Amino acid sequence: MQFDMRALPLLARYKIINSTVTPRPIAWVTTLSPDGVGNTAPYSFFNAVGDDPPMLVLGLLKHPVTGQMKDTARNIMATGEFVVNLVSESDAERMNLCSVDAPAEVDEAARAGLEMLPSSAVKPPRIASSPVGFECRKLAALDIGPRQTVVLGEILVAHIPDEFVLDPEKLYLDTPAMKLIGRLHGSGWYTRASGDMFKMERPVGFPDEA
Ligand SMILES: Cc1cc2nc3c(=O)[nH]c(=O)nc-3n(C[C@H](O)[C@H](O)[C@H](O)COP(=O)(O)O)c2cc1C
Repeated sequence: MQFDMRALPLLARYKIINSTVTPRPIAWVTTLSPDGVGNTAPYSFFNAVGDDPPMLVLGLLKHPVTGQMKDTARNIMATGEFVVNLVSESDAERMNLCSVDAPAEVDEAARAGLEMLPSSAVKPPRIASSPVGFECRKLAALDIGPRQTVVLGEILVAHIPDEFVLDPEKLYLDTPAMKLIGRLHGSGWYTRASGDMFKMERPVGFPDEA
């Protein structure tokens, strides 16, 4: 079938993107409101988009019913700071708990029983159990359409527990040991990022070239 994305209703467009662009990494984003109230929520419209400067992108949709910005977006716009914590399998349920539609004054991290650690370059704390924490500063925010904002964040500091750093000189990291999870199709489906790996070296030319 061919789908004319320009003619489809919102939910249909969401389903097609959500069910095909998979697996998606999950940014478990911690922010602070200008008053210092903590906020934690998962976002899978997320990826790394560059290394000079090291940069991440977040796709922050507005609330489907109220049409209001979500707390994460509001806090990033107001403070310009956030931490992206990657999600390990052992944190899956706590991450899911943080996706609850909670009022701005509720700190989801406390409700989910998360231990937080102070960050070094930004004010929002990071999640202690996360295998990777990226302290970020908002580089740009673009309102793309009436109900979504794209945030580009520069990674200022990366936190990776020593147990995952195999060789600090060569920067060999034990990514499989991090047991990161990703978002799959539909609602509620996830994958283990290191579940079914295969290796392929990048070619230096086409096979029929001399
Ligand atoms: C795994 C997962 C991924 C999600 N990804 C996104 C996303 O990319 N964009 C988005 O707007 N909401 C996403 N959500 C929904 C938000 O987490 C949810 O709306 C949450 O209540 C927002 O919290 P906040 O208002 O504290 O920012 C996701 C939820 C889950 C469980």
